[in-house]
Amino acid sequence: MPSVPAPGLLHEVPIALGDRSYGISIGTGLLGQPATWSGLPRAAAALVVTNETVAPLYLATLLEALRPHFAAIHEVVLPDGEAFKDWRTLNRIFDALLARACDRKTVLFALGGGVIGDMTGFAAACYMRGVPFVQVPTTLLAQVDSSVGGKTAINHPLGKNMIGAFYQPLRVVCDLGTLATLPAREFSAGLAEVIKYGPIADMGFLDWIEAQLPALLRRDPAVLAHAVQRSCEIKAWVVGQDERESGLRAILNFGHTFGHAIEAGLGYGEWLHGEAVGCGMVLAANLSARLGLIDSALVERLTRLVAAAGLPVRAPSLGVQRYLDLMRLDKKAEAGDLRFVVIESPGRAGVRPAPEALVREVLAQGGA
Ligand code: NAD
Ligand code: GLY
Repeated sequence: MPSVPAPGLLHEVPIALGDRSYGISIGTGLLGQPATWSGLPRAAAALVVTNETVAPLYLATLLEALRPHFAAIHEVVLPDGEAFKDWRTLNRIFDALLARACDRKTVLFALGGGVIGDMTGFAAACYMRGVPFVQVPTTLLAQVDSSVGGKTAINHPLGKNMIGAFYQPLRVVCDLGTLATLPAREFSAGLAEVIKYGPIADMGFLDWIEAQLPALLRRDPAVLAHAVQRSCEIKAWVVGQDERESGLRAILNFGHTFGHAIEAGLGYGEWLHGEAVGCGMVLAANLSARLGLIDSALVERLTRLVAAAGLPVRAPSLGVQRYLDLMRLDKKAEAGDLRFVVIESPGRAGVRPAPEALVREVLAQGGA
């Protein structure tokens, strides 16, 4: 029988980045406890950035808990969706900061999923050349991945996350209680990024995810707490060695080259990011097998798990050439040559070029 964790802080995962080190707090009921927010740098003002879906659920609770710590707390509620991860919406954060004459000590809080986290982080990196910010992720995907590690960005119509900065938060607070209101489709999207950590870093974790999938899908609190903790530990381990992605960090993008092409090709928001990553991992595993790195049993195993998590495993049919054109804009591409994160061996990933003919085969077989 899994034990139900008591409310409060369950795990603290450190992320070691010298003077930019911080902690990832994981627990339940953290959002509404004033103690969660103590110890931040002294500042007159805070700005909470959220969206119109999350605001009615959690904004009042967060504002109340922040009140003892700031003289003034402002809020900006943005439209919801990947399609709004753009210049125009980003500018609304700057408008809010400037309209309230916020100074360079102002602390930004990103309350929401990865879209809010990425945009708020980028706004924090830019405003007055850098103000502090805190990640308060409320989706599974954001708790296990996007809130951790300091990648911030907005999309460009020609490419996903193309305009951005590396900029670390002061703190990440994962309140597992917020996951209770997450729609099932969004929850599955988050599972894609949890599954990702298995084949790239920890096959024991992959075994555990397979065994615990029914409990994960039921959102069993103890099982969820472990999934978030282990995911954050692996991400912290990778980012601690390669903050700015000069090498190792690229493994976190397993499945993303195909996935980003799906997102951009269909139009942002049509498939969820996690759905595109789920399908992208199946394609990338196939490519790894065709390169002779892994056997087909692992591809089949991963495909079964992705499908069982409620994620698509067949690529949308955009046409193989369209995929290739979109993937040439990937940040890993060099001089127009495609490079992919592949599974080098079970539990270990790397970045490799791949012959175009092989990629065409994988895409065609995958439904592209
Ligand atoms: P999202 O931010 O769009 O959130 C998903 C949906 O859930 C939204 O409609 C949101 O309003 C809603 N929502 C959020 N919290 C909720 C809650 N507790 N209850 C009910 N609804 C809630 O999507 P996401 O999957 O969280 O993040 C995807 C984004 O993250 C993409 O833009 C992707 O590029 C980015 N990302 C960034 C990194 C990184 O390292 N920075 C890593 C992975 C993904
Ligand atoms: N999600 C990929 C990274 O943080 O590097």
